[in-house]
Amino acid sequence: MTESPTSLPDYLESLRRFHDEAAGAIAAASDRDAVEAVRAKYLGRAHGWLKDLSAMLGKLPGADRGTAGKAFNEARLKVEAALEARQSAFAPARAIGTIADPTMPARERWQGALHPVTKVVDEICEVFRELGFTIALGPEAESEWYNFTGLNFPADHPAMELHDTLYLENGGLLRTHTSPVQLRTLQRYAPPLRVLAPGNVYRRDFFDATHAPMFMQLEGLAVDEGISFADLKATLSHFARRIYGNTRRTRFGPSYFPFTEPSAQMDVEVDLGDGRGLRWMEIMGCGLVHPAVLESAGVDSQKYTGWAFGMGPARIAMSRHGVPDLRLLYDGDVRFLGQFA
Ligand code: PHE
Repeated sequence: MTESPTSLPDYLESLRRFHDEAAGAIAAASDRDAVEAVRAKYLGRAHGWLKDLSAMLGKLPGADRGTAGKAFNEARLKVEAALEARQSAFAPARAIGTIADPTMPARERWQGALHPVTKVVDEICEVFRELGFTIALGPEAESEWYNFTGLNFPADHPAMELHDTLYLENGGLLRTHTSPVQLRTLQRYAPPLRVLAPGNVYRRDFFDATHAPMFMQLEGLAVDEGISFADLKATLSHFARRIYGNTRRTRFGPSYFPFTEPSAQMDVEVDLGDGRGLRWMEIMGCGLVHPAVLESAGVDSQKYTGWAFGMGPARIAMSRHGVPDLRLLYDGDVRFLGQFA
């Protein structure tokens, strides 16, 4: 309504448009709230059609005001009646005492929490921070050299086959472990050094109870003069006592990795609550850094030695809390995750 009508016919025409527009909007309103919005728009006091139309009434010639006023009231009543009719077409609003039970406890407040794997990573970082380790990070899209060659993988190692690794179009690949960070750190900083490298890694694996195509790893590396296997065992045993407590049994067993020599794995005794009772679960691979790795990063392997480990924090969360299936950690079901909040 932009211009003020100056004559009775114009005014009556404005009323008719007001009525028709309101009737259309009422018919289109699809719930109680929508009907109330139409009511505010057309009959609201502060703004809306009704206010404009009554203001115009005063501008009409005195002789026409009686007729115009009557038509104004009629139009308003018709719109009001249409609003009531439309409103009653919808179910009545929920009334306390009929549908809702006012004695029910209030809904619990929603509160987010850190994911159990994130928590384990934070805790492990804290244990190693106390031992003088700093955090190092590396890219998830790596080169074949950092992921394999520089880590002393022989050129025909089966892990490098196309079906075991996710290659990128530019010739790079998604890192299959966090060990490339060993090389990147050694190239950048001179020993002595102690670093911890958390991050995501990727494998062309199926998603089952013990595997995921993407998961987190935590790499550790200590390089100095005179570092021995005794340092590795002492540090990792301390780590296990801190994470599992003094009573949980852990053990080291022989293993193989191209980038460590000798290589070992650390197992922890767990009951995953799946009825199979206590059993050993591997939680990390470790070993003394292979001299070839030190040399490919430009570190004098005659002068320096070191040890490294790579662990899966998801497995540590499972072994600690008795989670029988890895997928539970990734499904995002708050009924499961809420237990760790
Ligand atoms: N990178 C190895 C893996 O992903 C783990 C590892 C890291 C082993 C460091 C030894 C030393 O399985």
